[in-house]
Amino acid sequence: MSASRVVSSAGVTGGSNEGILRYTLWERIVHWGAAVTYIYNLITGFAFWSPYLFWGAVIVGGGATARFWHPWVGLVFVVTLLCMYQMWRRDMAPTEADRKWARVMYFYMTNEDEKLPPTGRFNFGQKLFFWAMWYGVIGLLLSGMVMWFNEAIPWSLRGLRYLAVAVHVISALVTIGGFIVHVYMGTALVRGSLTAMISGEASPQWAKGHHRLWYDEAVRGGPAKK
Ligand code: HEM
Repeated sequence: MSASRVVSSAGVTGGSNEGILRYTLWERIVHWGAAVTYIYNLITGFAFWSPYLFWGAVIVGGGATARFWHPWVGLVFVVTLLCMYQMWRRDMAPTEADRKWARVMYFYMTNEDEKLPPTGRFNFGQKLFFWAMWYGVIGLLLSGMVMWFNEAIPWSLRGLRYLAVAVHVISALVTIGGFIVHVYMGTALVRGSLTAMISGEASPQWAKGHHRLWYDEAVRGGPAKK
């Protein structure tokens, strides 16, 4: 869903202190679907990667069960990412405001949002995460398919199998790096984000503090006024 569609379906739902629609029900279903399927594949993928992490496969039903479900659950994760792409790709396009924001990104990491220039529905850090996940999932999907159907690869092209293992690991590491930062920011650092992803609503104060341009559009239907 594009920013403008969200903004037009959003708005203050009553008095000025009532919530602003940040995520529709469908957006939340897709997001939590991505979270559950990603975590399953993380646990089982780690189990295949190292015997020290095999306990991960044990807790989800054993090695054979994990090996069976890993690619299928991976496909569901790919579908959730396709839905996110369809819903958010326009909101995730970098803008001139992002370039200004990126220059002082340090204040984002120290959670001093008041020192950052105003941002739209998603800030530059969120956009970076989205695109890292998007390109990461393309790498995981292509390399995963080669490993899933490796008997179909002719012997003369066996180099593809080795390449697929390397691409799978590198893509997984890219997404894991982004995922750790994402969960930390969404749950511990930026208070109010998790509530928005659960209930769908953000308070006007939160929206104003973290996504000023989006807030101005949603509430006043115009650009930010300094
Ligand atoms: C337990 C795991 C996860 C938690 C706790 C979590 C938490 C959150 C929260 C709180 C937000 C709202 C941020 C805001 O509106 O400011 C959010 C947004 C988002 N999440 Fe997750 N998430 C998780 C897993 C994932 C996974 C696996 C993906 C895979 C692509 C993902 C992709 C996104 C995207 C693209 C957004 C919108 C942009 C952003 O805020 O970064 N999340 N998440």
